[in-house]
Amino acid sequence: MAWGDGGTGPRLTLAASLNPWWLEVSDLSKFNMQSFEWANAIATPAYVLDIAALKRNLARAAEVKRGAGCKILLATKSFALPAAFPIMREVLDGTTASGEYEARLGHEEFGKEVHVYSPAYSPGEVERVTKLAQHIYFNSPEQIESNLATIRSHSGLKIGIRINPGFSNATLGGALYDPCAPFSRFGATRDMLDRVPWDEVDILHTHALCESGDEGSVGLIEHVGRHFGDYVRRVKVVNFGGGHFINRPGYDIQKLIAAIKAFKTEFNVEVVLEPGAGLVVDTGYLVGSVLGFHENDKSIAILDASASTHMPDVLEVPYTPKIVGAGEPGAKPYNYILGGKTCMTGDIIGEYSFDRPMRIGDRVVFTDMMQYSFVKNNTFNGVPLPDLAILDESGGYRVIRSFGYEDFRHRLG
Ligand SMILES: Cc1ncc(COP(=O)(O)O)c(C=O)c1O
Repeated sequence: MAWGDGGTGPRLTLAASLNPWWLEVSDLSKFNMQSFEWANAIATPAYVLDIAALKRNLARAAEVKRGAGCKILLATKSFALPAAFPIMREVLDGTTASGEYEARLGHEEFGKEVHVYSPAYSPGEVERVTKLAQHIYFNSPEQIESNLATIRSHSGLKIGIRINPGFSNATLGGALYDPCAPFSRFGATRDMLDRVPWDEVDILHTHALCESGDEGSVGLIEHVGRHFGDYVRRVKVVNFGGGHFINRPGYDIQKLIAAIKAFKTEFNVEVVLEPGAGLVVDTGYLVGSVLGFHENDKSIAILDASASTHMPDVLEVPYTPKIVGAGEPGAKPYNYILGGKTCMTGDIIGEYSFDRPMRIGDRVVFTDMMQYSFVKNNTFNGVPLPDLAILDESGGYRVIRSFGYEDFRHRLG
């Protein structure tokens, strides 16, 4: 039984269990009616994209685009599921990549604009990327100089420079996720900016946020206007990066829209945003099953889903993901530590409480598992990779891809 289905008791809907803000979205009633009965019937582990939730998030992105007159790209580093691209393509302007492979993915699977930034490119990578992307960003004036001839041998390519604006607003992970942390390798610092060949540069790029609220987005936009205005006036486009958590409850997109409009009016530039997490936050699940139990002062349930292999951010950030129908330790009568089956002692997802004792085979539905999850997973200990699946708006469940021994073996040479 999936936690939250409640057996004979009342069904727990996602909206009721997690996020009252969702209840205010009037046109997505199907999503709010969604129960988790489907989780009992599926093979686990599985990452499941909830199409209704994705559409809800895309509707917010569309509102920002419309209101601000800006472009929005998907940062594929956070979420790269080609099966979802047709829906995303309807709203978004393209993708932004971290290098050649993601640029190729964006070019072949998404279409529209492809932007690419890397703090350094491998030999030949810029030349290869010129065939995949139309917007290529560099990390320093020297990188631009050394790649200028390559770029200019292809007509129509736009050059970007990433700057380090010295604006810190990451809301999690401290320096781990703050692109402006001391000694950051990302972006030209102020002292380098007069060496940038501005006449060759089309786009000023800055990525400084992480899961930031509207105050972070607005703060960054105003900071760049206030402190880098002389450079902004030399380009046609400003890309304010990712980390705009526009689908987080409480994020006031009207404030973002107003800040972008004011910036565009003052500097007469186009504005681009390239969020990843903010587009797919709360749009899907990782469903695992209870495989067994262990007692060692506390009750421990061992799952076929693992923090170490399937939710690396749980250990890296770190954070404790939510589970449908579970409470914090002590909030409900039955307490368990949930862990994966790898050898890593720290492969612990968290400690939770439940309304009834767990049983082997119970499904456990972790929420908010579309961002930085399957794009980062691994097969440590030979742990099987979860299925990639889609839950459509009428509740239909479709596995896009299953993985087996061959996928594990293939990566080992
Ligand atoms: C350059 C750049 N753009 C966009 C993003 C996407 O950020 P997020 O997923 O937090 O929106 C990142 C994330 O690291 C990034 O490094």
